[in-house]
Amino acid sequence: MNMEYTKTILVTGGAGFIGSHLVRLLVNKYPDYRIVNFDKLTYAGNLKNLTDVEKAPNYTFLKGDICNLQEMQDVFEHYDVTDVIHLAAESHVDRSIEGPMEFVMTNVVGTVNLLQVAKAYWTGENHVFHHVSTDEVYGSLGSEGLFEETTAYDPRSPYSASKASSDHFVSAFHHTYGLPVKMSNCSNNYGSHHFPEKLIPLMINNIVHKKPLPIYGKGNNVRDWLWVVDHVSAIDAIFHLGRVGESYNVGGLNEWTNLDLVKHLCKLMDQKLGRAEGENEELITYVTDRAGHDMRYAIDATKLETELDWRPSVTFEEGLEHTVDWYLANAEWVEEITSGSYREYYQSMYDNR
Ligand code: NAD
Ligand code: TYD
Repeated sequence: MNMEYTKTILVTGGAGFIGSHLVRLLVNKYPDYRIVNFDKLTYAGNLKNLTDVEKAPNYTFLKGDICNLQEMQDVFEHYDVTDVIHLAAESHVDRSIEGPMEFVMTNVVGTVNLLQVAKAYWTGENHVFHHVSTDEVYGSLGSEGLFEETTAYDPRSPYSASKASSDHFVSAFHHTYGLPVKMSNCSNNYGSHHFPEKLIPLMINNIVHKKPLPIYGKGNNVRDWLWVVDHVSAIDAIFHLGRVGESYNVGGLNEWTNLDLVKHLCKLMDQKLGRAEGENEELITYVTDRAGHDMRYAIDATKLETELDWRPSVTFEEGLEHTVDWYLANAEWVEEITSGSYREYYQSMYDNR
């Protein structure tokens, strides 16, 4: 047992978008916890997301793959891991359509690996395995209704199928072996350090460079957006206060059609970049729809709000402005990410679409 720390939390995928925000929160808020960030550093993982905490005494980074059983066993053994917050995943729907197997490996096999190691290593009480998941496992809504924790799973993309499978394994390890798990299913996140393959950072980057803004189909698909800082505050609440064996939906009742959202972003960035009103909107281009494109996601987070008193801290307008300001102030972060293999990705995904 580590005598100087009250917990040793293994955060998987802590160099990614949401993971880096969570690691920052945990390292700063809980100096009595040791935070071990375990990340493979795929295209989506970036240690530059964490320069502000890399020297903190309670922080350790380890490069590794959750699919590697030996590596996971060594980490549990060496650091005496008491808790896990599991975010490592392949996370982009379009990539899952091009190549599902990587999603099966990391999201399903990697998760089961981690569950096996936690089950073997944890004998006493007071452990938590918090699995971070998505609302996409519930499938696609029509114009009415919200996803609740009791909504039947109906994943429709290879990404959501792999996440749904991992959720089922987490739940099975609780029911079969008594592993102390908690789960959260969150709506679409946005914020700083977001890889520019997802809608909002891709559009911000394209607006900056006056490139076409590719709207899939007619742009009337609906997503429910939550600021990443609010998602990690929800994970903090669920990890500490949520009930073992339960899942919690996370969202802020903030639905936008893709077209309305992109138009809103165009207006905001007309002002920020000193461009004429309407200039950015002219960049909107309708492209071939995504295969199997889910129509609408929307989260009912009543359970989280009533049980754990969690609320989003900002309006969408505030969060989006903060996000745009961050991208404009951190052009070199974007430049570094978009200078290499991103170009090939972009061409294969968007040229001739
Ligand atoms: P991301 O793609 O930005 O980051 C994923 C991280 O996992 C990267 O740092 C990557 O290097 C790491 N990783 C990938 N494969 C790995 C492996 N085999 N071993 C170790 N590390 C590996 O993803 P994100 O948007 O930060 O999402 C984090 C988690 O939250 C995922 O589980 C995702 O399904 C879930 N989630 C995301 C959203 C969203 O809107 N982005 C919403 C709800 C839930
Ligand atoms: P995305 O950010 O990939 O998240 P998800 O598919 O996990 O919800 O996409 C959000 C929405 O934006 C989705 O309806 C697809 C759409 N979209 C576009 O219209 N154009 C794009 O270039 C991208 C990346 C997404």
